[in-house]
Amino acid sequence: MSCILVMGGAGFIGGHVMMALRAAGHDAVAFDNFSNSHKDQLLGAPFIEGDITNPEDVERAFAQGPFDAVFHFAALIDAGLSVRQPDIFHHVNTGGVAHLLAAMKHHDVRRLIFSSTAAVYGNPQYVPIDEHHPVAPINPYGESKANAEKLIATAHAEWDLDYVVLRYFNAAGSDPQGRIGERHDPETHLIPLAIDATLERRAPLSLFGDDYDTPDGTCIRDYVHVCDLADAHMAALNTLMAEQGPLTVNLGTGNGFSVREVIDAVSDVMGAPVPHTMAPRRPGDPAVLVCSNERAKDVLNWSPAYTDLKDIIRHAADFRRKQDPAV
Ligand code: UFG
Repeated sequence: MSCILVMGGAGFIGGHVMMALRAAGHDAVAFDNFSNSHKDQLLGAPFIEGDITNPEDVERAFAQGPFDAVFHFAALIDAGLSVRQPDIFHHVNTGGVAHLLAAMKHHDVRRLIFSSTAAVYGNPQYVPIDEHHPVAPINPYGESKANAEKLIATAHAEWDLDYVVLRYFNAAGSDPQGRIGERHDPETHLIPLAIDATLERRAPLSLFGDDYDTPDGTCIRDYVHVCDLADAHMAALNTLMAEQGPLTVNLGTGNGFSVREVIDAVSDVMGAPVPHTMAPRRPGDPAVLVCSNERAKDVLNWSPAYTDLKDIIRHAADFRRKQDPAV
């Protein structure tokens, strides 16, 4: 059993990892500013309220240790917003990691599992995308995460930080028991918006662009179940405990679905059409992001349990039906 500090532990992916850590018998403490997350997602787990952009808050969290390892989820994630507000993405996503690394060094905590993103690859030169693919982000969100990865690699070289960088493709779904789930505010992600549009809780979905170079003209993404992501984090922790880092690993299913295919799948699961209208392209969106998960299979012994998009949508829908319609 280890004591783990989870930066951003009340968020969507962080919350599911907190649950997995506690189920495995670890002591897990969340650090969160609750800016885009919810205290009730913690299901009673201990937490420290603080902001990753404030070095004193981060230092205060580490003073409550000792911690055996750190998971870092606390970040801004909306690629479209990053195009409009690049500075804040660099401040939170890269600056936040600088503060985190300083505190880890100070407190001699040498194991880090870092939430990175497929957005670091930009427009793919080939698919599926493996970890050898050049890092060439096309939006400030991807840049901010790529820069944070560089800081982490530098810490490895300079003071022997051991790390696993996990580059997620599109996290989706929710805890199958419906205890926690995806609740961004504002919500910008396709699957929850499509579900809510079908439940008539929101305006019709805007479909951002049907003139991409893909078979039906809409963007293709690789949707991976959040519980599969949580399992991969547990495998990453075991890898670091066994001193088998550093590693950089993609996490996705290897299957791509277009926006239109997602809309059709949501419609099938919900038993009703998804009201939607056409809209222009959203700046910063690559046409295709599909993962090669061969390395995850090899080094983490991980492969996704949920490979049917409709199961992922069903879990997301079960959770959203339980939410207050006003949220
Ligand atoms: N989309 C719409 N309408 C919407 C919302 C999304 O058409 O209202 C489209 C987007 O244009 C995109 C696709 O649906 O083509 C998926 O969009 P999401 O906003 O659900 O997800 P992103 O692919 O933009 O980004 C997500 C995460 C990022 C991560 C990326 C990696 O938010 O953090 O997946 O693949 F980097």
